[in-house]
Amino acid sequence: MSLATVFPQAADIPGEFAHKSEITQRDYLLNGELVQWQGELSPVVSPIYIRNSDSLQQVVLGHTPLLDADTALKALDSAVKAYDLGRGAWPTMAVLERIQHVEKFLGLMQLQRAEVIRLLMWEIGKTYPDAAKEFDRTSDYIRDTIEALKQQDRDASHFIIEQGSLGKIRRVPVGVALCMGPFNYPLNETFTTLIPALIMGNTVIFKPAKYGVLLIQPLLQAFLQSFPAGVINIIYGRGRETVGVLMESGKIDLFAFIGTNKGASDLKRMHPKPHRLRAVLGLDAKNPAIILPDADMNRTVKECVAGSLSFNGQRCTALKILFVHQSRAAELVDKLAAAISELKAGMPWQQGVAITPLPEPGKTQFLTELLEDALGKGAKLQNPGGGETVASLFTPALLYPVNSSMRLYNEEQFGPLVPVVPYNDINEVIDYVVNSNFGQQLSIFGQNPQQVGELVDIFANQVGRININSQCQRGPDSFPFNGRKDSAEGTLSVVDALRQFSTPTLVAAKYQDSDVDFVKQMVKERHSRFLSTDFLF
Ligand code: G3H
Repeated sequence: MSLATVFPQAADIPGEFAHKSEITQRDYLLNGELVQWQGELSPVVSPIYIRNSDSLQQVVLGHTPLLDADTALKALDSAVKAYDLGRGAWPTMAVLERIQHVEKFLGLMQLQRAEVIRLLMWEIGKTYPDAAKEFDRTSDYIRDTIEALKQQDRDASHFIIEQGSLGKIRRVPVGVALCMGPFNYPLNETFTTLIPALIMGNTVIFKPAKYGVLLIQPLLQAFLQSFPAGVINIIYGRGRETVGVLMESGKIDLFAFIGTNKGASDLKRMHPKPHRLRAVLGLDAKNPAIILPDADMNRTVKECVAGSLSFNGQRCTALKILFVHQSRAAELVDKLAAAISELKAGMPWQQGVAITPLPEPGKTQFLTELLEDALGKGAKLQNPGGGETVASLFTPALLYPVNSSMRLYNEEQFGPLVPVVPYNDINEVIDYVVNSNFGQQLSIFGQNPQQVGELVDIFANQVGRININSQCQRGPDSFPFNGRKDSAEGTLSVVDALRQFSTPTLVAAKYQDSDVDFVKQMVKERHSRFLSTDFLF
């Protein structure tokens, strides 16, 4: 069967998922209004093609506004005004009230669940179960954030007495935040910075991801109805025109960005006062799996297939290189090849599908180049049919033996290529990890507690998370998610994100009778919201 037949004919698409007409979006959210953009629009194309009798036609999903620099600066002005140097209604609002705004948003967001999921499928090729999971995980993240903030506020309601001082610490907003998410989790990863930024009292400019952009449109009304004017502004357009000017203004205080370390560095460099810019970054990764001589191979294969090929390998946490002890290499490769050949290519709405079209233009060419580079330097393709490409589809390719001369050894593929490197001495793998530019996570597969334990200690200062006999992943969202070197800046978890998007302010007095009485009076007579001790349940 030719790979092209994986693409559907129009009549094959189930009605509930069909994209019946193009969406022409002109509206963007500016200062509490949905403004209609009269300028140029940017086409949004799907990675999905429709098969006609003799050709494939790429689906145009619609258009989004291509805002210019002046409009981006208006969004900035609006956020700056709403923050008002920390004196605005939003940054000074009681925590409970801000929570109520976010709860309203969450309720309205639920009404758009089906449409957001449908657009996730069409815009980035995510399968229905994964798209539904992304939406629901995001909703849970918002609920958990609300609970975590209530807990934080309860904890902060006490006074602390320390070395003759009386103190009360509360976390307060930082300023104006610019939030930008990635195409692979355009809803989830964006909202895991956007929501904590908002709920902590910052005002926000949100620029949706490059792909996975139309799916924000159904939520514009929810944002509009839930937040006061200027608190959230949503802009669209080319990054270099819109985001550059925001950074150059020096008025961005918080920069939440998920993308490449190069992109992050270029933007950070534009800020005239870098010391005033707090960055929360999720960046590149090349997470290795380390398969020890005594690994449980069936379990290892299952985890490595999921780890390297879920969502076509387009996860920052994906396993991007597998190191296997020479004594088990043949067995690993055979089993992996068999498991990969079971993966079904298809459309996101089809049941049991694992391999779907890739949204980035030029991605299949890039993957082909990496593949050919490896083949040219001695790797062999281990799964028949791997690396075939038609339009935006690329079948997963298992490559062995991979070595340090090949691009795949160090470059992040962010796609369905699975490079396997044999090793004889574990120090070869340790050297790889220690000298890598990345340091997000790794996985160790082995059954000897002493050996695995020793490796845990060796790697503990190298990566943000060590997974034992399991693939790399971000969740559960209550766990810290971070990385070292070029992989991340800052830590995100439900609780950590609240800290990243806020800063502690301390009110202190001498612990002596007269001053204690004075503070007590302020509290009792409710002269200060900061000092008052309302408990949020
Ligand atoms: O793309 C990076 C994501 O944060 C990974 O999340 O491990 O839950 O797929 P995940």
